[in-house]
Amino acid sequence: MNPILKAIQKSAIRIKHAIDVKDIGYSQEQNSSGETQLQLDIQSDLIIEEELSQVEGIHTIASEEKELPMLLNENGHYYIAFDPLDGSSLVDVNLSVGSIFGIYEGEFNASKMIASCYVVYGPRVELVFAHEGKVALYLLQAGEFEFVKHIHLNEKGKINAPGGTQQFWAPHHKAMIDSFFARGYRLRYSGGMVPDLHQILLKGGGLFSYPGATDKPEGKLRMLFEVFPFAFIFEVAGGKAVDGHKRVLEKTAAHVHDTSPCFFGSSSEIDEVLSVYAGA
Ligand code: AHG
Repeated sequence: MNPILKAIQKSAIRIKHAIDVKDIGYSQEQNSSGETQLQLDIQSDLIIEEELSQVEGIHTIASEEKELPMLLNENGHYYIAFDPLDGSSLVDVNLSVGSIFGIYEGEFNASKMIASCYVVYGPRVELVFAHEGKVALYLLQAGEFEFVKHIHLNEKGKINAPGGTQQFWAPHHKAMIDSFFARGYRLRYSGGMVPDLHQILLKGGGLFSYPGATDKPEGKLRMLFEVFPFAFIFEVAGGKAVDGHKRVLEKTAAHVHDTSPCFFGSSSEIDEVLSVYAGA
């Protein structure tokens, strides 16, 4: 596992450099979900591919920017799915963005996930790594990632980060979100899931939701690249991650780019989501 973490750290340092120096123009290429790719997406994807290719134990990688998984080493053991630069459209307005990694043994199946990691490129670069029952926070300082602390979620938080477009929400979802606000929860939503979830993790708890809605019945966020890695981190930190009805880590992605509605948070808020959605 250590060589994989080291490769992710090297990628993060190179991506941070690319963000700092890169001209922010749009490329003409589209990714497999039909979105126009930013140049930085492509560059970040290539950086991570290059760094992971040097780790012997990796069998296959899958990237949000590649239509199909890529075999690296037939004798490898690990499968890694990553979103090289999540929220990349926020770079040109200078908001925080991130890279997300899910690490599996033997196949891309949520039940085979053994570690998960994300990097936040904000005013500082931070890395969060969940493995063997612990979630560790690292800070990039003078070219090295230094361990800061372990992350634990409280039973209940104060943040509400509601994703999606309100006009398309189901009535029970809107009523639930309104009810959290009516009880004093504060809105914290930047449009980048990495900084938004990072804030909930570091401030002790709350709720992030990206529901299924009439415009996107299966939500927007991709299971392999976004939902499963964060679900793993939230569960290890003592929180929960569900699709409204069950743990997202009990779900299967039929295709690498499949999406799922998702709710991440501390256990009190997620229990409320489950009870609201059960009654809908
Ligand atoms: P993208 O894949 O285009 O970078 O999108 C970012 C994701 C995620 O980071 C964020 O939580 C979500 O999109 C925001 O979507 P909305 O703008 O629909 O709220």
